[in-house]
Amino acid sequence: MPSGPLKGRIRVPGDKSISHRALMFGALAVGRSRISGLLEGEDVLATAGALRQMGATIEREGDDWIVDGVGVGTLLQPEQALDMGNSGTSTRLLMGLVASHGIHAAFTGDASLSERPMGRVIDPLSTMGASFTPSPGGTLPLMMEGMQPAVPITYRLPVASAQVKSAVLLAGLNTPGTTTVIEPIPTRDHTERMLRGFGVDVQTTEVNGENHISITGPVDLSPCDIVVPGDPSSAAFFAVAASIVPGSDLVIENVGLNQTRNGIYRVLEQMGAQIEYLDHCEVGGEPVADLRVRHARLQGTEIDPSLAPSMIDEFPVLFVAAALAEGTTNTSGLEELRVKESDRLSAMAAALRKAGARVEEREDGLIIEGNSSRPLSGGGPVTTHLDHRIAMSMAVAGLASENGVEIDGTDPIATSFPNFVSLISEASGD
Ligand code: S3P
Repeated sequence: MPSGPLKGRIRVPGDKSISHRALMFGALAVGRSRISGLLEGEDVLATAGALRQMGATIEREGDDWIVDGVGVGTLLQPEQALDMGNSGTSTRLLMGLVASHGIHAAFTGDASLSERPMGRVIDPLSTMGASFTPSPGGTLPLMMEGMQPAVPITYRLPVASAQVKSAVLLAGLNTPGTTTVIEPIPTRDHTERMLRGFGVDVQTTEVNGENHISITGPVDLSPCDIVVPGDPSSAAFFAVAASIVPGSDLVIENVGLNQTRNGIYRVLEQMGAQIEYLDHCEVGGEPVADLRVRHARLQGTEIDPSLAPSMIDEFPVLFVAAALAEGTTNTSGLEELRVKESDRLSAMAAALRKAGARVEEREDGLIIEGNSSRPLSGGGPVTTHLDHRIAMSMAVAGLASENGVEIDGTDPIATSFPNFVSLISEASGD
């Protein structure tokens, strides 16, 4: 669908990473936590379903969600397999929780999730004492048995992954002694921030440029009221759309801008995007602002690989911005994109080429020759491989194309951004 300019004010749903954690920590506290702004996407609902099976009561009350937790150390044995749908975050973080409890659990997921590597959490959690029977290749479906008491470890992350960091720290909550994760490259720190909000003493120190994050267990979590800020990853689709569709002038309200998440905005500005940050404030212990984004002629750029963790989910839509920019955009150091909900390097290379962009795929990144603000030809259908972010990115590409971009399926969008299509229509006045 080629589009008119994006105008007005919109508000994107709550942050997915923060929503998962709010439910999990609420379930681990003894007493009642209230969450407002929770993302009601399928991924987060999968987390809620699993936590209910392990004893938490989670209910919607008006616009809020109420969680009555069971407490650390007293998770119940789930009766059925935990169906994780498409959600890697639910799977890996909950595996961490189960690892230090005396229960066993089966984890299942959809075709996309069943191809994703779980060895990265199985390795450290096995060292802590949990045992695993994964499918060949270390994937779902898998069975695991927790160990209570588990053994504390010090673990240096071999990949920059907030999910692995969080899995180990969550296992540490019910492990006697000090569990430490060393992260050579900073990743999103919502786990650390929110655990502190639940009264946990999370120690973070910098040693030789690396973060050492420690928890001494077992800990008690005090219930807490949480306000979830808007998801910067969801807002990014609109920031790019407004940047590439001529005449756009859009305000995206209440966007979380945690330093470990805002790389996309820094890169868009480096490309010449016009972004104004209005009404800075703090929501739920996270920095937040309204973003005013106006159409701009973007320039191709070279993206510093060290920025990757702070925009790891935003590369698909950044590639769309690059396809409309003037000159070449060079990305590297992005091997992790091959193990997301799809292989996002090959999926985006194929999809953008189908839409008329010039893209070279390398082992660790894409090189994109921009169209100098001229619309792409469009076309399709593009294959989204059950990946919400490929679907939304190519929908954004369609807005700046002559013929629109046809997408093979929009169902996966409901995992993270259920009202994406209606917000696009609202902003573009369709
Ligand atoms: C997430 C961490 C990232 C990100 C995912 C959410 C989290 O994954 O891609 O969408 O909530 O911790 P990795 O830890 O695999 O990089």
